[in-house]
Amino acid sequence: AAVVEHTFNVGATNISQLCTESVIYTANEQLPGPTIEANEGDTVVVHVVNESPYSLSVHWHGIFQLLNGWADGAYLITDCSIQPSGNFTYQFNITGQEGTLWWHAHSSLLRATIYGALIIKPRNGTAGYPFTAPYGEIPIVFGEWWNKNVNDVEIDGHLTGLGPAISDALTINGMPGDHTSCKGAGVYEVEVASNKTYLLRIVNAALNVELFFKVAHHNFTVVAVDACYTGPYTTDVIAIAPGQTVDALMTTLAPPRWYYMAATVFDSNTASIPFNNGTATGIIKYEGAPNETIASMPSMPAHNDVVTANNFYWSLTGLARSDDPAVPTTVNHSMIVEFGLDQEPCAPDQTKCKEYALVAFMNGYSFQPPKKVSLLNALFDDLTDVYSEDFPMSPPSVPTIRKATSVKKVMYNDVVEVVLQSKKYKTKVGTENHPIHLHGYNFFVLAQGLGRYDPTERSTFNLVNPQVRNTVAVPGGGWAVIRFTANNPGMWFMHCHLDAHVPLGLGMVFEVLDGPAPNILPPPPDGYPKCY
Ligand code: C2O
Repeated sequence: AAVVEHTFNVGATNISQLCTESVIYTANEQLPGPTIEANEGDTVVVHVVNESPYSLSVHWHGIFQLLNGWADGAYLITDCSIQPSGNFTYQFNITGQEGTLWWHAHSSLLRATIYGALIIKPRNGTAGYPFTAPYGEIPIVFGEWWNKNVNDVEIDGHLTGLGPAISDALTINGMPGDHTSCKGAGVYEVEVASNKTYLLRIVNAALNVELFFKVAHHNFTVVAVDACYTGPYTTDVIAIAPGQTVDALMTTLAPPRWYYMAATVFDSNTASIPFNNGTATGIIKYEGAPNETIASMPSMPAHNDVVTANNFYWSLTGLARSDDPAVPTTVNHSMIVEFGLDQEPCAPDQTKCKEYALVAFMNGYSFQPPKKVSLLNALFDDLTDVYSEDFPMSPPSVPTIRKATSVKKVMYNDVVEVVLQSKKYKTKVGTENHPIHLHGYNFFVLAQGLGRYDPTERSTFNLVNPQVRNTVAVPGGGWAVIRFTANNPGMWFMHCHLDAHVPLGLGMVFEVLDGPAPNILPPPPDGYPKCY
């Protein structure tokens, strides 16, 4: 096993994008940021130097951080962020996971431009991939682009409660492609050889939009999601929610020409103003293709094609090899977590309510991060009054919304099952799919469906080869059942990965207590950003 070392200098970069000059914050002046490539078993060391005027935490999305929650980079959950002019070295081992993950800023709007892929290949000397080794690998990282300063964008959205301003473009590897109104916008291009199989490592790093992805005249075989192998699944369209990754094989069997890849928005919230961020394009060029070829475009699903999206999401299974962990069958905590958005209740002294101010909740609690110390720090140092342990097992019988820093306490190795129930608020907002992401663990997705979860669904749970993920796109107004073993002591955030919903309170935290030695959280590393 090797040590993979990087330095990320986070600072201002001038960029010309969509015919507009702007200043954005990036890691090492790259958009997307540097790709981290490692083998399973390696140790990753990233020195983050914060030359931006904002406080900064970097999250290694999907990495277990076993007994190492200090490096999870979740602002105010596991650390207190790197102050401007400060630095911190994140160090973690990659154990028991292979495939594509990613990293992103987990504080303020730096998240819009500070992100990159984290690729984990099989350990050297092992059997390697559970499929024929690809001829080449192609990272495809989706993002969103605003011509306005991203910070203003988020502030707009939160003041009006209508959600974030719709982005001006979707991007593929940082570039919008040639189907926008700006002639001469950057286009991602990749050259391929005929009759070869490539592994596409696809990441949805967009802030607030689920996406469809296709390549004209090509099919995919999905082999992993969220760095967990899947049963091979053949499709011509991929649906991917913010936070998720998909590894897909693509064989270049088409005539040697140029082909577009394209990404468009999937928005199940058909009642709202449809998100229309246009189409991001890239070009796949076969070696030897004539230069003047007009590339063909894939025909994309309609933006509200729920059937196509769910068919993709719900058809995936885990690979369930004999040495993969089996689904635990005894459950210690059987929770129903009902979540959604609602109109913020009026303050008693207010004569009028703000018309659109929104609040988000899970089981009636709107999550408020602590102010002065991270939850993990508070747990480790036994600080009282930072959080309460009263997060409920099920929604309140009378709908109430309380703003609080409330966690669900579980013991080491407890098995937690959560029915994630999405609740519709009127028809105006919050009926989109919510990608729910859990830090520190992967979970089994036992079943998913539309409408209200009914306990009789239990008989349909896939306990044999369910898909394993860290982020599940819970259907708008529908449900998903997840199960995981809490074998990683610490404080672990579970939240909606639509970025605009996090500050509204769409999250909760699992407090997982230490187990018997050696399953004890060690003290924080040197230089750990505390705020006291
Ligand atoms: Cu990728 Cu808490 O996030």
